[in-house]
Amino acid sequence: MSGRAICLPLQRMSSLMSLEHPVIAIDGYSSCGKSTVAKSLAKVLGIRYIDSGAMYRAVTWYFLENKIYFPLAGEHSDLDYRPTLDQIHIHFEVKAATGESEIFLNGHNLKKEIRTMEVSDNVSHVSAIKEVRKRMVSLQQQMNTGAGLVMDGRDIGTTVFPNADLKIFMTADPEIRAMRRYREMLSAGVEVSLDDVRNNINSRDYEDTHREESPLRMAPDAVVLDNSHLNFDEQVEFVLERIRNLRPA
Ligand code: DC
Repeated sequence: MSGRAICLPLQRMSSLMSLEHPVIAIDGYSSCGKSTVAKSLAKVLGIRYIDSGAMYRAVTWYFLENKIYFPLAGEHSDLDYRPTLDQIHIHFEVKAATGESEIFLNGHNLKKEIRTMEVSDNVSHVSAIKEVRKRMVSLQQQMNTGAGLVMDGRDIGTTVFPNADLKIFMTADPEIRAMRRYREMLSAGVEVSLDDVRNNINSRDYEDTHREESPLRMAPDAVVLDNSHLNFDEQVEFVLERIRNLRPA
């Protein structure tokens, strides 16, 4: 996936930016291609990329693996999750060979485990737990060391970094998103039907936008990027254009 936008030499890109270490928040619906765009931007800008969804997926994997009860949609629980969360240590490592950022939970690389249908089917429930969100938001905020950061998720521009230098809200037609994710999963060797992928996307959209704790909302100062009919290069260029125009606050 190379193109005009991502081939822009680093030096030239930074000379076009008024801000040297921007914090860029990319939020939006499931399977919009947020992480592909975010990763590429981080590479062009020479700054860190964090996939906040991977963190909620890792916690979900831990809950499933350790059979920890969590409430389903419409259920309520007064359980204190703090002792469980105290057992969970998450960090990212950048693989030297590929430059890919991979997630570790208690020292285990969970790159593959967090992409199963079982995790996808439960992550909205676990990520709706107040205490889980509190911990993850705090961890995400600590990841901003001042060296610039691209983070994607659902509440980055609204809750994690409300003062981000640039906020992008990505969206696309749900049917196009389902087809993209279906193809992605097939090529990753995951056996799944298009119906299952479509249902999962629809229910995650619903739960992400209806949960009590920091639901998916567009920040009032976010720029909408509807990529239903845009190719990858066009999406990256769309964001780069806005980054070039950034001015220090
Ligand atoms: O980006 P993703 O589809 O891998 O995210 C998985 C789930 O994690 C998503 O359904 C909702 C949740 N999530 C969240 O609640 N807040 C975030 N900032 C990122 C993800």
